[in-house]
Amino acid sequence: MLDDLLRIEREFNQALDEAGSDPDAVEAIRVRYLGRKAELTGLMKKLGTLSKEERPAAGKAINILKQKVAASLQNAADQAGNARRTARLAQERLDVTLPPRMPWTGTVHPTTHARRELESIFRGLGYTVESGPEVEDDFYNFQALNMPPEHPARDGADTFYLDGGLLLRTHTSPVQIRTMQNRKPPLKMICPGRVYRRDWDATHLPMFHQIEALVVDEGITMGDLKGTMDVVWKRYFGGRVRTRLRPAYFPFVEPGCEYDISCQVCAGDGCRICKQSGWIELGGAGMVHPAVFEAAGVDPELYTGFAFGLGIDRIAMMKYGIDDLRLLMENDTRFLRQFPL
Ligand code: DAH
Repeated sequence: MLDDLLRIEREFNQALDEAGSDPDAVEAIRVRYLGRKAELTGLMKKLGTLSKEERPAAGKAINILKQKVAASLQNAADQAGNARRTARLAQERLDVTLPPRMPWTGTVHPTTHARRELESIFRGLGYTVESGPEVEDDFYNFQALNMPPEHPARDGADTFYLDGGLLLRTHTSPVQIRTMQNRKPPLKMICPGRVYRRDWDATHLPMFHQIEALVVDEGITMGDLKGTMDVVWKRYFGGRVRTRLRPAYFPFVEPGCEYDISCQVCAGDGCRICKQSGWIELGGAGMVHPAVFEAAGVDPELYTGFAFGLGIDRIAMMKYGIDDLRLLMENDTRFLRQFPL
């Protein structure tokens, strides 16, 4: 029996050597040497045929060999497993130094950007930033601005009317009235906001953005208006920008004008954006009409003031060289992401 055990051990060691780090081969050896049909198991069963004296020593020897075999197998299986994992890791190599694809974090819309910049310029000149409702009534949007019910200027306004005598404001000018009702002169304010008109083509949208400006004090003149505009546009566009006023009619100012700036795309030489004129119209302006002061409770004998309105979307287009108004409304992320803060 001892001879058998020595032989089995030798064979086992040799088989294990040959299996190397192949996990399947190691498993096959385990079945062969420890399984139900293993030679060692057979020897155990044969113990009964031995004499009483021989039995304990033989049983012990078989058990010792079984334990040795089990320990060696465990060891070999562990090594085979490690080898397999190492091989897989080498294959699955991950290069953590590769630059990742950056997640897109979104940007500020060009119109918002322009509004914020203009707000900051006006704040720097001592203006307050006011707001008013987008749903207005007839008094604030028209009557108080010197447009009584039958006034022809109302036709051109293309107003969206709502139930109950309300409407979507067609301009930010009603905030002039609300501000003068709430605050005594001297006052300098701007109001940025959305305005609405029944318009929809390449150069007009049913909703767009304006900024209203109003200055009221004793002795304010048209010169203050022109000077203020020069400063604001120079700060916004930087350096070489000229402003010009052209006589125009708005019911709420007298005298009234439209104002242009020299085209920032072609520097005044003439291009597609300015239709070869060298000038871009930005909005309307003028000296506050006495009837407007009266409607808002300001004494026109004591005070004068200037006001102007401007289209923020227009200005953003000028500044960033955008040539189609609709791009600002489509929210195409490929367009928007070109304007990082
Ligand atoms: N509210 C006018 C518009 O939307 C623009 C405007 C003209 C505003 C003259 C003014 C102004 O403050 O004085 O067309």
